[in-house]
Amino acid sequence: MAEPIDAIRAIHNAFRNDLERIDGAALDSAMGKEGFAATVERFRFFNEILVWHAHGEELAIFPILENVAPLVAEAYVKDHRGLDSAFDTLNKSYSARDPLQIARATAAFRFHLDIHLDKEDTHLYRIFKERVSLPEQGKAVGIMSRTVPQERFPELVAWMFPLLGHDDRENMILIWQSVMPAPAFTGVKELIKKAIGSDWAELTRRIPTL
Ligand SMILES: [Fe+2]
Repeated sequence: MAEPIDAIRAIHNAFRNDLERIDGAALDSAMGKEGFAATVERFRFFNEILVWHAHGEELAIFPILENVAPLVAEAYVKDHRGLDSAFDTLNKSYSARDPLQIARATAAFRFHLDIHLDKEDTHLYRIFKERVSLPEQGKAVGIMSRTVPQERFPELVAWMFPLLGHDDRENMILIWQSVMPAPAFTGVKELIKKAIGSDWAELTRRIPTL
């Protein structure tokens, strides 16, 4: 049975995987290899989603957590501002077309992101899960998901699903299936199918109601 915060774990994994690829491509480019520019350039879209996500947490998750675990979230807000500044450094290096500085910036960004997400998963969201009721968790994650502009939702699906393993994909689908009106979910199903191609078969095996 998927729980609301499984959706957050899944998107955290997508962030980790995407920045790992971007950082790897930046290193390859800095070493003079060809053909990695398009992957490095993905950092812009990656960060756009990261900012929606952080904003959603600050809007919907952290205030609820404050009621049950005062002063915990404050440290995570500081982390978010650190991620903003990691992006600014990367963006400046990218504008300057300096492959070495770009690779340094992606490495620093990734190091900070990995530690931040690991702390959220094992500390912040552990407290959230233990001290906030399941209906409240669901409400908070719902508010959070609405920070993604509606018209950008197809891009979010196309970005996220190829970056996820089968378990995370299954959880995301079960959650959306339970909260979306049927016609909206039918549209989302098509987006997912398009994003993952032949992997769709594994999901229909796992979720027979698809
Ligand atoms: Fe966060």
